[in-house]
Amino acid sequence: MSRPKNQNYKGHGLSKGKEREQRASIRFKTTLMNTLMDVLRNRPGWVEVKDEGEWDFYWCDVSWLRENFDHTYMDEHVRISHFRNHYELTRKNYMVKNLKRFRKQLEREAGKLEAAKCDFFPKTFEMPCEYHLFVEEFRKNPGITWIMKPVARSQGKGIFLFRRLKDIMDWRKGNAGKKLTSLEAQPARSTANPSGSHDARSSDDQKEDIPVENYVAQRYIENPYLIGGRKFDLRVYVLVMSYIPLRAWLYRDGFARFSNTRFTLSSIDDQYVHLTNVAVQKTSPDYHPKKGCKWMLQRFRQYLASKHGPEAVETLFSDMDNIFIRSLQSVQKVIISDKHCFELYGYDILIDQDLKPWLLEVNASPSLTASSQEDYELKTCLLEDTLHVVDMEARLTGREKRVGGFDLMWNDGPVSREEGPPDLSGMGNFVTNTHLGCVNDRKKQLRQLFRSLQGQKKASS
Ligand SMILES: Nc1ncnc2c1ncn2[C@@H]1O[C@H](COP(=O)(O)OP(=O)(O)O)[C@@H](O)[C@H]1O
Ligand SMILES: [Mg+2]
Repeated sequence: MSRPKNQNYKGHGLSKGKEREQRASIRFKTTLMNTLMDVLRNRPGWVEVKDEGEWDFYWCDVSWLRENFDHTYMDEHVRISHFRNHYELTRKNYMVKNLKRFRKQLEREAGKLEAAKCDFFPKTFEMPCEYHLFVEEFRKNPGITWIMKPVARSQGKGIFLFRRLKDIMDWRKGNAGKKLTSLEAQPARSTANPSGSHDARSSDDQKEDIPVENYVAQRYIENPYLIGGRKFDLRVYVLVMSYIPLRAWLYRDGFARFSNTRFTLSSIDDQYVHLTNVAVQKTSPDYHPKKGCKWMLQRFRQYLASKHGPEAVETLFSDMDNIFIRSLQSVQKVIISDKHCFELYGYDILIDQDLKPWLLEVNASPSLTASSQEDYELKTCLLEDTLHVVDMEARLTGREKRVGGFDLMWNDGPVSREEGPPDLSGMGNFVTNTHLGCVNDRKKQLRQLFRSLQGQKKASS
């Protein structure tokens, strides 16, 4: 329960133009002991609350949310770091189900061309409930590679690749063989109810802690874009402040996560070749803790521009914007909209040799643990800027299009780069206010922003 004692607080959530009194301090709580804790503890005016103390801001984990959210009273100004049913986007099976439904809806309402803009996730079947559909598809494409992923785990755990139906037969019988030790003696079960909405009680949204496991069988992208012969995927951060209306921010920085071993399709059992998760790669014998396995997105963007020219890069990054926006729209009406909630998502994007980006998954709890000094800086800046946007201090006007490293990408519609009406590119993608992998001069921007906000405040008082 969180019942702020500071009765003089009238701020957040009230109309932005109104004069607001600010709290003497902001009481925060978190269960995470990583870069987040450093950022929260260093934030001026924020004080840590332990145990059952009342809080104004809680960066909670999803298991806390599942058990407590429904019976927690929250005052107007209180903020919490997840939406109640975030798993509609962040569980692999629900994400695909929502995307498929959204694509159908677009086809009905706007035609095939519009629906085709949702073709950014590899063909996916939920197992075991779509097993028969999967087998049909499998038989149509003999010889291709598939990937099996537990719907609610992370860090590459429980994942395997296969080309023979026999591997799935074994899995179905609950007798999955050596590769599938995690599945042994775990009968698979569908948790989706017939109405298509996902029952919060039966949906275990905490990665790791699930009694029975569903999987998705997904087409494996056999032609990933390689750099130095190695596969990688991208981690991109998207901050959603509201679903109705949809208000989403894109962070300029992120990184590419490389595998340590040269890519080949001849050894599909080697996780060091095929899974780019840092948690997997850092256990590889070739891993150098100093070198790590990451490239910052700026470096990646520059590399691509030098190889393929700026236009190809613009198209790729605009295709990625399309992924962020459509995936959020696909759950817009499903996610329980609640003004107390915000969420910082970690998108996993794989790029193929045709420079097409594919959405692999969206994480509700992207890792906030730093793997190097550079990674530490990225994550602390990301979190500082997240707190600036969440704006517990009630400093913003609500009209900002940029706050530090975050650019407002969607505000109930595309946000144009310059003032004026939003323009649509020839490709039919939105040209929106995004600068992924571009210069992140956040310090300078924040200085200017807060100086001008103070100026406005003085002028109006
Ligand atoms: N369809 C796919 N094609 C190619 N590689 C994939 C595919 N799906 C996953 N991978 C690889 O496996 C890794 C883990 O998959 P992901 O869906 O992100 O699950 P996890 O929750 O375990 O991180 C990805 O980072 C990527 O390297
Ligand atoms: Mg992942």
